[in-house]
Amino acid sequence: MQLIVDGLRFSYQSSEVLKGVSFELNDHEILGVIGPNGSGKTTLLKCINMVLKPKQGLVLFDGNDVKRMERLDVAKIFGYVPQNAQLTFDTPTVFECVLMGRRPYVSWRCSPEDFEKTWSALAALGIERFAMRRLSELSSGEQQKVLIARALAQEAKVLLLDEPTSNLDIKHQLEVMNIMKDLVIFKGLSAIVAIHDLNLASIYCDKLLLLREGEVVAVGKPKDVLTVERIKDVYGVDVDIEIKDDRVCITVLPNSLNCSPSNLISVNRKKA
Ligand SMILES: Nc1ncnc2c1ncn2[C@@H]1O[C@H](COP(=O)(O)OP(=O)(O)O)[C@@H](O)[C@H]1O
Ligand SMILES: [Mg+2]
Repeated sequence: MQLIVDGLRFSYQSSEVLKGVSFELNDHEILGVIGPNGSGKTTLLKCINMVLKPKQGLVLFDGNDVKRMERLDVAKIFGYVPQNAQLTFDTPTVFECVLMGRRPYVSWRCSPEDFEKTWSALAALGIERFAMRRLSELSSGEQQKVLIARALAQEAKVLLLDEPTSNLDIKHQLEVMNIMKDLVIFKGLSAIVAIHDLNLASIYCDKLLLLREGEVVAVGKPKDVLTVERIKDVYGVDVDIEIKDDRVCITVLPNSLNCSPSNLISVNRKKA
């Protein structure tokens, strides 16, 4: 498997949000997309699977232009896991939600194979026991697993995960990231994950793509992308960086934004 994204540009109305994004993703790789809020991470994921049509640029999957593919064929390649489950009044059961992942393969009715793949996706995520529960009755972490199971049932080759750890406590963050890593190693998938936590990103991702206002600031190994100067430049925050066993450990310095507790107290005193 090889994914090439070359010079992607996208605008909402007149404002350009992606300004020529390029990178490559290979078999069994996890690419972390990082960058401040509003830098274009979600838009990039949606342009890769053509939920949004890029204005310019190419997405090539094994040499084939994804823009020219049928919608259902695109769904056999990319499994999109949104940031949060879309909970509506008639939220489906967990089983129904995961079965929806079989949509690209279903003609008139679901086959025994579709049911079998749904159960095995639920089993892979360890959530068979929730099968008949409604999505709205699950915790954020459990919902996130259901959405990943749906992408698995879809037999996608590349997972596109949009901030899969937001709203989760540390244990569940690690659990979701471990699931992603296992799927990449044992099921032969690749993944592109938009993520805010730079430490988690550097532990789990093979490569990072750093965006700022729709432009690629850097792409490469976490220890090459995450430098003190670049984090200051892009996020405006002072950090300490230690490299431990080839991993980047980032500590945010509390006086970074002039909003340490003592500063806030003196600001409030001046106001009073
Ligand atoms: N539907 C939309 N219509 C207009 N502008 C949008 C829309 N969605 C996102 N944007 C804008 O596009 C930019 C990138 O957004 P997004 O891709 O969601 O960034 P991120 O995921 O990095 O936070 C932001 O400035 C955001 O306000
Ligand atoms: Mg986003």
